[in-house]
Amino acid sequence: MVKLAINVDHVATLRQARGIDEPDPVLAAGICELAGAAGIVVHLREDRRHIQDRDVILLRQTVKTKLNLEMGAAEEIIKIALNLKPDMVTLVPEKRAELTTEGGLDVAGQERHLTSVIAQMKGAGIPVSLFINPDDGQIKAAKRVGATFVEIHTGRYSDAVSEEEEDREFALIAAAVNAAHGEGLRINAGHGLNYRNTARIAALDKIAELSIGHAVMARAIYVGLDQAVREMLALCC
Ligand code: PXP
Repeated sequence: MVKLAINVDHVATLRQARGIDEPDPVLAAGICELAGAAGIVVHLREDRRHIQDRDVILLRQTVKTKLNLEMGAAEEIIKIALNLKPDMVTLVPEKRAELTTEGGLDVAGQERHLTSVIAQMKGAGIPVSLFINPDDGQIKAAKRVGATFVEIHTGRYSDAVSEEEEDREFALIAAAVNAAHGEGLRINAGHGLNYRNTARIAALDKIAELSIGHAVMARAIYVGLDQAVREMLALCC
């Protein structure tokens, strides 16, 4: 069964909108774990627009499952990760003006830099996942730079506006999962997954873990976080 990791960035977004101390993503992470989530994901952005340094420090102390720190490969954040020692890091491309992570990493275009970052992380005992589009060239590059995981970007599948387009994007993801498995990489997936489109991805048996944030937080506003996580978990088995 695929595991479900919950991204709690949006809880911090709501807190930052008021500039006060609630809602607290640390408390939300605990509720997600109690509901059955197998991991917690947070993206510490360079601009600190949602998750703050205080959050990752407290999450490191309190998360009982697995803390996955999503991050750009920038010097300042690399230092924080090396000190914090999350259970894993997921490297993503980060642009200041974007609403959310837009595309996958161009691993092939920055092999030297990523090889060095991954070696530093491995030296600190931190496995690295690379967030990539379902693309054979990027999968091979991920293997070359020493990644342990790839996270296959499901954004185009999630954004599909017709059944044909969704089928096409799904086929690309399924092929990428097989290719990554063939390279000996471990495989996560995520971005844009919701209560309608997750079951099909979760059924791909070589995927270890799904990373889901927005849809769960949006539903949590209506039904509560515990129930929103449980309903998503039910789609993952
Ligand atoms: N995976 C990565 C690498 C992401 O950047 C995000 C968005 O923060 C997610 C998964 C989760 O995406 P969503 O919030 O659309 O579920």
